[in-house]
Amino acid sequence: MTSADAADEPDDPTRTDERPTRKQPFSQAFKDFIPQGWAPYSEVPPDPLPATAFTQPRRDAISAQFAGDRLVIPAGNLKVRSNDTDYRYRPHSAFAHLSGLGTDREPGAVLVLEPTDEGHDATLYFKPRSPRTDPEFYADARYGEMWVGQRDSLAEMEALTGLACAPISQLPDALAKNAGATRVLIVADADAELTASLTGQRTALGVGAEAAADQQLTVALSELRLVKDDFEVEQLRTACDVTADGFESVVAALPEAVRRGRGERWVEGVFGLHARHAGNAIGYDTIAAAGDHANTLHWIRNDGDLAPGDLLLLDAGVELDSLYTADITRTLPVTGRFTDAQRTVYDAVLAAQEAGMAAARPGAKFSDVHAAAIRVIAEHLHAWGVLPVGVDESLDPETGGHHRRWMVHGTSHHLGIDVHDCEQAREQNYRHGELRPGMVITVEPGLYFKSTDLLVPPELRGIGVRIEDDIVITENGCENLSARLPRSAEAVEAWMAGILDRGPAG
Ligand code: GLY
Ligand code: MN
Ligand code: MN
Repeated sequence: MTSADAADEPDDPTRTDERPTRKQPFSQAFKDFIPQGWAPYSEVPPDPLPATAFTQPRRDAISAQFAGDRLVIPAGNLKVRSNDTDYRYRPHSAFAHLSGLGTDREPGAVLVLEPTDEGHDATLYFKPRSPRTDPEFYADARYGEMWVGQRDSLAEMEALTGLACAPISQLPDALAKNAGATRVLIVADADAELTASLTGQRTALGVGAEAAADQQLTVALSELRLVKDDFEVEQLRTACDVTADGFESVVAALPEAVRRGRGERWVEGVFGLHARHAGNAIGYDTIAAAGDHANTLHWIRNDGDLAPGDLLLLDAGVELDSLYTADITRTLPVTGRFTDAQRTVYDAVLAAQEAGMAAARPGAKFSDVHAAAIRVIAEHLHAWGVLPVGVDESLDPETGGHHRRWMVHGTSHHLGIDVHDCEQAREQNYRHGELRPGMVITVEPGLYFKSTDLLVPPELRGIGVRIEDDIVITENGCENLSARLPRSAEAVEAWMAGILDRGPAG
């Protein structure tokens, strides 16, 4: 299907690509006929979104940091994949956090916090649905009801979000009104036109200062998500829970994945089906890495076989409709039993993860979790005679680092709407920051022995293991949100046996 008569399509200022002209024009008879005979839109307002009760305090918190400044937070636009086909839409995470909008909402929208004497007034500017008399209804493949379904009216969006709403066409005038400084969230992949339209009306800041002001807002919005509210923790708990279901589906499908060949792809597909069914999507590209592929940290090609006797490293997460995602890794023996060599590596990674989790408590530094885990990794490498220097020498950040050959990544990152959440936060609040109750982080040590690594004993070559769980910092320590999935080698074997004995899922 391609979209209809170009001449009839409403102007879309966000669209700069050449439009195809191979379209059949609409007759006047069709144009007269098409608006008639439709049931009226419902006048019953929709229920508020689940997040709506939580968004005002988030907006208040950012308002308090930028008294007197206008804050402009774009959702981001649809993005062309090719010709008239767009990528699936996902709003910017800061926009989703402040508006409560999730799956598919709302392309081209802009949230504006207008300064007042008391704080800020929030208005959501977006493209409300047009009446059926408008050619958009039938001729606009990007926004029209016949193409993408019924969109929200202003009143419906107000009911969903609890925000005052206005048509996006009113945004230029609103921005032209004099405010103090205007700060605009930097949306990394926003098109130039959108950015120009949002930033062109500034008054109080000089050009150099504008970039710095935008950067401050962008950092603040990222740091605003460092500590999750109750809604966010519950969403992450649910995301972990449905991700665990997805891992179970994968285990049930392992015999079929082995039998078919290209089993990594089969695993990716089974998890993807589950993710799309239980939530919005996968929260990031699934890593389904068998055998030596597990030693490629971001193995998302997933085109290898699953051989009996291999380990499968599965790093996957379901993203819910609220856009919160899990990020879980289990390393599983394809046929359900670890070999001695695999178990040796697995137990070392598990011990590192236990040490990391034990260090995760309020008042500790974020980096303490990594320090605890990586020490255990280095100790095992040393005990196996692999580390060419002593443990402390290797752990010296200035002069050592040898152990990093076998675990080059960090142990933790913040988790939330983005799988790598809060990435714009400042170092002092992230890596050097203190852990606080409500923070959600991963704990994900690994050991990666490439088949080509001549410095490790031959029996360990080709083995890669990562164990990754998602934890929330509590008042006393931490809670493992992904604890439903077993971690010890024995528990993994028992869990897999229970699923495999039941046979393929129906
Ligand atoms: N799945 C990406 C990560 O673990 O950080
Ligand atoms: Mn992770
Ligand atoms: Mn992961």
